Amino acid sequence: MAFNLLKGKKGLIFGALNDKSIAWKVAEKAYEEGAEIVLTNAPFALRLGDTEELAKKCNTEVISADATSVPDIENLIDKTMERFGGKFDFILHSIGMSPNVRKGITYDNLNYEYFLKTLDVSALSFHKILQVSRKKDALNDWGSVIALSYVAAQRTLYGYNDMADAKSLLESIARSFGYIYGREKKIRINTISQSPTPTTAGSGIMGLEGLMDFSNRMSPLGNATAEECADYCVTMFSDLTKKITMQNIFHDGGFSSMGMSRRAMEVYSKNLEECLEFRDVTHKFEEF
Ligand SMILES: NC(=O)c1ccc[n+]([C@@H]2O[C@H](COP(=O)([O-])OP(=O)(O)OC[C@H]3O[C@@H](n4cnc5c(N)ncnc54)[C@H](O)[C@@H]3O)[C@@H](O)[C@H]2O)c1
Repeated sequence: MAFNLLKGKKGLIFGALNDKSIAWKVAEKAYEEGAEIVLTNAPFALRLGDTEELAKKCNTEVISADATSVPDIENLIDKTMERFGGKFDFILHSIGMSPNVRKGITYDNLNYEYFLKTLDVSALSFHKILQVSRKKDALNDWGSVIALSYVAAQRTLYGYNDMADAKSLLESIARSFGYIYGREKKIRINTISQSPTPTTAGSGIMGLEGLMDFSNRMSPLGNATAEECADYCVTMFSDLTKKITMQNIFHDGGFSSMGMSRRAMEVYSKNLEECLEFRDVTHKFEEF
């Protein structure tokens, strides 16, 4: 059911690769709620993904831009303003990639060139988009900018690797830029910290299936889906959330406030005896 929450609003959406992408769901919802949108993704993603198909559904166009390249972002903002006939109201940053994760390199053995790439793609790109938008005065007063994050920014989660550092930086950029853009133009900047979700980027994370099950068992409301994340993004783009800024907001069914749940304990207890036996054997060997 649509509520016309974004009627008359215009927005730019980064990161819709295929119909699993969180950005894909956000684009569909934003369009359904009455927004006009422009889609963008990196040149390689436009060759491999289905973004053009989404553009047709949402009656719009795709403008290619590598989000690590300032000239690409400048061109993208110019073209987006041309299409909209002026300023626009919201931006979604839904971009993440770690070459270390992709190549299975662990956190205690990072390749630093790859690490810098992780930070550039997954976090600095957010700063670049904000800086170019501000310089070009691209956003209307009371506009809303959102980037997607993950709880590994605050807590260590096995396998999340250097993406955890990128997410910490991303959330910090939302606060630092949120102050500047807020005081000048009343533009609000937030990150939404989403549950693990089965997407192309998500499936790169070590043991995603186990992590999703654990996270679901730990969360009193269960994992949040990509569609539910899209619903939330739309409310954050709407005028109903005008005084929320510089926040990292958990959209995770309660996971981030939990320590242990009954449903997770049930699974843990099932294997406990096996684990204790294994420990005893290991100890014997060590003693030996
Ligand atoms: N899937 C999860 O479990 C999960 C959980 C929390 C947060 N997130 C975050 O959600 C966001 C979207 O990821 P997703 O899960 O929908 O996966 P996805 O793979 O569908 O989206 C990632 C997008 O980043 C784009 N991208 C990569 N490099 C780029 C570049 N240089 N320039 C422009 N775009 C580039 C890709 O083309 C792709 O469209 C990411 O920030 C991710 O970290 C995902």
